[in-house]
Amino acid sequence: STGQPSGAAVAGPGRVRPRRLRATPAVRRLVREVDVLPRHLVLPVFVREGLDEPRPITSMPGVQQHTLDSLKDALARAADARLGGVMLFAVPEVRDAVGSRATDPDGILNRAIAVAAAEVGDALVVQADLCLDEFTDHGHCGVLTPDGRVDNDATLVRYADMALAQAAAGAHLVGLSGMMDGQVAVVRDALDAAGYDEVAVLAYAAKYASAFYGPFRDAVESQLVGDRRTYQMDPANRREAAREVAIDVAEGADVVMVKPAMSYLDVLADVAASSPVPVAAYAVSGEYAMIEAAAAAGWIERERAIAESVLSIRRAGADSVLTYHATELAGWLAEEY
Ligand code: PBG
Repeated sequence: STGQPSGAAVAGPGRVRPRRLRATPAVRRLVREVDVLPRHLVLPVFVREGLDEPRPITSMPGVQQHTLDSLKDALARAADARLGGVMLFAVPEVRDAVGSRATDPDGILNRAIAVAAAEVGDALVVQADLCLDEFTDHGHCGVLTPDGRVDNDATLVRYADMALAQAAAGAHLVGLSGMMDGQVAVVRDALDAAGYDEVAVLAYAAKYASAFYGPFRDAVESQLVGDRRTYQMDPANRREAAREVAIDVAEGADVVMVKPAMSYLDVLADVAASSPVPVAAYAVSGEYAMIEAAAAAGWIERERAIAESVLSIRRAGADSVLTYHATELAGWLAEEY
């Protein structure tokens, strides 16, 4: 039966009318399936050693390299916005082949972690990027063999030391973004052996070799020549993400990440459907830059595009979303709820 009264002259949808649930703001609000709340958002923050004042990042309009001082303001705003956390990245003044500054307690990232732990450690989860690319003079995420390849197992030793330095500085969570095999196990063991069993490990489990990291490389003044395809995943591969997640969970990851977000929502949905641990997604610098550039040209509505992109990442299954728009977006959300 069509549900039409008999004798109806016009064929129609019958009794099934999905538009009833879209008719008013109130009913749309009632039946909405997912939300974005400030607690779902994590703000990535850049700190640059040796600056007198914050320096804008050209390819990321609105994002800056902070001084340790201006970092405090950004942290305070993030805490006021009731974000879930911050993810700290730092650019040292001096780089070398093994990324010495990454493990130096006085290195800029470890100092930034200490500032964050002291300033907002009660309000936010203080997270730190655990990777060598900002610290090496060749820009790779690990140390190199004499013939210039990334040396997986030698890198793990550096990561373990870096984890200890970050934990000592007060990090609540270390974000392993280097895509070395075995990195979660090595870091977990090092933390536990030193008594840091409460420091959590976020594994960038499915991290793809993506063009969308371009502006980030400006933000950290990356020294990289070439690419990261021998360690980051091939954008063609969906099934492989499940394997990476399974390995990282088995090695003790507390949270797993899919990165980038918007071009990888299928991967994110797969991971979210099967992961036994919370899933984060990273709306990366190129995603940020695309929205800002199109909005600046007047081609898309900026606020709607930002909100829709993060909502979509949540809908695909992310528990938390790293986005450079986190503080601003949380401000609008506060008005909505
Ligand atoms: C590596 C790292 C990168 C990003 C986060 N961690 C760059 C890379 O893998 O080349 C990219 C983040 C972004 O593009 O916003 N430490």
